[in-house]
Amino acid sequence: MFPKNFLWGGAIAANQAEGAYDEDGKGLSIQDVMPRGIQTPPTERPTEDNLKLHGIDFYHRYREDIALFAEMGFKVFRFSVAWSRIFPRGDEDRPNEAGLRFYDNVIAECEKHGIEPMITLSHYETPLVLAREYGGWTNRRLVGFFENYARTLMTRWRGRVRYWLTFNEINSIAHQPFLSGGIPRPIEELSLGELYQAIHHEYVASAAVTKIAHEIDPDNKVGCMILAVPRYPLTPSPEDVREAQWRSQLDIAFGDLHVRGEYPGVLRRYLADNGVSIEFADGDAELLRHTVDFVSFSYYMSVCETASGGQRGEGNLIGGVVNPTLRASEWGWQIDPKGLRYALNEFWDRWQIPLFIVENGLGARDELIDGTVEDDYRIAYLNDHLVQVGEAIADGVTVLGYTSWGCIDLVSASTAQMSKRYGFIYVDRNDDGSGSLKRYRKKSFDWYKEVIASNGGNLS
Ligand code: BG6
Repeated sequence: MFPKNFLWGGAIAANQAEGAYDEDGKGLSIQDVMPRGIQTPPTERPTEDNLKLHGIDFYHRYREDIALFAEMGFKVFRFSVAWSRIFPRGDEDRPNEAGLRFYDNVIAECEKHGIEPMITLSHYETPLVLAREYGGWTNRRLVGFFENYARTLMTRWRGRVRYWLTFNEINSIAHQPFLSGGIPRPIEELSLGELYQAIHHEYVASAAVTKIAHEIDPDNKVGCMILAVPRYPLTPSPEDVREAQWRSQLDIAFGDLHVRGEYPGVLRRYLADNGVSIEFADGDAELLRHTVDFVSFSYYMSVCETASGGQRGEGNLIGGVVNPTLRASEWGWQIDPKGLRYALNEFWDRWQIPLFIVENGLGARDELIDGTVEDDYRIAYLNDHLVQVGEAIADGVTVLGYTSWGCIDLVSASTAQMSKRYGFIYVDRNDDGSGSLKRYRKKSFDWYKEVIASNGGNLS
């Protein structure tokens, strides 16, 4: 059922894994001042209780880690480049050679094992200077800085890296402006106009970089990356159905723009109804027409919506109303494998371009006993989701690949905990920062290895 060339693999992000936050000329990123993730406001400067400063030390252990990925049979490895390793402030003309060299080595290691690298250019790690001195993506100048950054990477790794993602979960900026857009103000203090102008700058930057990627190498494949949270009506009432539809339209507008190259009507109306008019610079409309080659997305959970204001629960950054028919993870994320088939079908019917699931997984507490973790709960979660991917493929959806999130344990984005683990590989590090950083194979390690070897044949 899975096509022969299906890209199986795993995904991480620089700020959650690398550590070495100030080594080899790296500048600070917004993550270095977010010791509690999105739970509390950022600190003035980095504090040692921030687990991301040292992460899981991927910066020094990438060889060992990539060898473990290769042992599982990975065909693709998705990672992000820390922008502030390459441009420590973000606004320089010339890159930091030591930062580039680190990723030269990561890519070489992938090549050694026949693993296709997939790079996210911006994964919640805007350089801190761009956030604090420029106001993050509210400032148009970031478009030019981002172009320079992307051109630097794409030129250097021409022919070696083919898969590029622009902004991780680009729609999350509407809910988490600091994390996602480096905007150093609480959301309540931002007007809708400021927020959507910042979003416009990201759209333009994403399109500009897509253009650059294709100019540098026509074989480059660029994807947008959206946070997919299917929104079901809480009841069959037409009001609830419309509420769910409208809220998903606003989310999916981020994909529409990348695929169709223009603002969808529903977004234009939403902005006009709220008195917002977006400032287009000369050439923006043409730039936006440089559309993506594929749509990638993360999928962890679905939610409900109702017009009569239900109880909004925990969730992956954007949240929604609790679905009474589903159970949830310990962190309140509602588990819904069929929602993944639903999202794949929705996106395919809408856009008819290839899809790539670049994040999916279960955050859970693990217990290391006798050098391993019996993580049957994780195997069950992943199995059930992958079965639904198989169903979607049978429905006729083109799916390029699947990279499970946090294929090695790393620091959580929303809570900055180590104990919220996703990996096939256990990393000995605890929430208080203690631990040897040693790596251990979990039971799911062998299971995923078999999934890949059998091309999904062992799923049930
Ligand atoms: C996605 C992010 O929202 O979810 C990742 O792209 C993040 O960076 C993942 O780690 C899981 O979320 P969390 O908060 O459990 O780490």
